[in-house]
Order: sequence, then C-alpha cells, then structure tokens
Amino acid sequence: MIETVRGDITEQRVDAVVNAANSSLLGGGGVDGAIHRKGGEEILAECRALRASKYGGGLPTGQAVATTAGRLPARWVIHTVGPVWSSSEDRSSLLADCHRNSLRVAAELGASTVAFPAISTGVYRWPVESAAEIAVATVKEELRDSSLTLVRFVLFDDDAYGAFSAQL
Ligand code: APR
Repeated sequence: MIETVRGDITEQRVDAVVNAANSSLLGGGGVDGAIHRKGGEEILAECRALRASKYGGGLPTGQAVATTAGRLPARWVIHTVGPVWSSSEDRSSLLADCHRNSLRVAAELGASTVAFPAISTGVYRWPVESAAEIAVATVKEELRDSSLTLVRFVLFDDDAYGAFSAQL
C-alpha cells in the first residue's frame, strides 16, 4: 500500500521515518533539521557513533542507515543521502537507490510502515515531478515482494503533494 499525505514527516506515527540527510550524518536544515530538532540528542549521538565506526568517511549517496527516532512518534529514523540535482549528469539511479536501500533497511529492522519525505527536492534542487516519478516507481517495484505493509510519502507543500499523488 502506497499513500501520499500533506504534512510533517516528524509527526508520522509509523515504524520508520526516512531522513533526507547529508553524508556527514551530523544534521542540517529541512527534513534533517526538523528530525534532529524534534527527535533530540539521542539521534545525533547514534549518528556520531556511526561516523566513528562503520561510516568513518560519511554515508555515501544512495545508501541508508538506521538509528533510534528519539522523541519522535516513530521507532526508527532511516538516514539516506539523496543525490544533488545535475543537469549534465543523470543521477536517477542514485535517487532510486535511496528508496530501495531505505526499504531494505526498514525490512531488516522488522518495520511494517515507513514514511518518506520528497528526497533531494529541497536543498538538493531535484525537480519534484522527476523525483516523484523515480520515488514512486522504485517503491512500487520494491513492495512487490516485501514484508512492508505501508509506504507513506509525506509532502510539505502542495506542488510536491500534487506531483507525488499524480504518480500513484
Ligand atoms: N516534513 C516533510 N517534508 C519536509 C519537511 C518536514 N518537516 N521539511 C522540509 N520538507 C521537504 C522540503 O520541502 C523538500 O520538498 O522535504 C523535501 C526535501 O528537502 P530537504 O530537507 O532540503 O532535503 P534535500 O533536498 O534532500 O537536501 C538534503 O539538505 O537539510 C539539508 O542536511 C540536509 O544537506 C542535506 C540536504
């Protein structure tokens, strides 16, 4: 089941929320800023531990890693690093990887319900129609044989909501 809602990713009552992070895993603005601000220090502490161990060089674009969700209603945050939009280089496969890898991490955790923001469409400037097409197509493909029961795209503005809803 895939659905789109207008809202704030930090308020979603799902098992895992996906963070539009950067490779440092140490926070930022947009979704990243909201998740860390509302989720609290525990999330950053686990991100720091990941940087001190498995991800010394940072989380590569397209990959995903889970931490606690701290004070958020969700149980986990799955951090993924979207590609920055490029008009000269086709990075679509990296944006697809963000969704594929986040769903695989969610399934490994035993999550049943997952919420995504519109990854890469803010600071990373990816056109929202293109991002919606890639995101929804990848999630549909991954859900074919997955234990997940719900993927919710949580859109922060009407344009994104319209673009993602049109893909369902
Ligand atoms: N809930 C849901 N969606 C949100 C929220 C929120 N609280 N805040 C912002 N958004 C939307 C934005 O409107 C945009 O459509 O999420 C989308 C992704 O925007 P960004 O958060 O800017 O993420 P991205 O484009 O992937 O850029 C990632 O930005 O915040 C930094 O640390 C982050 O360096 C990384 C970069």
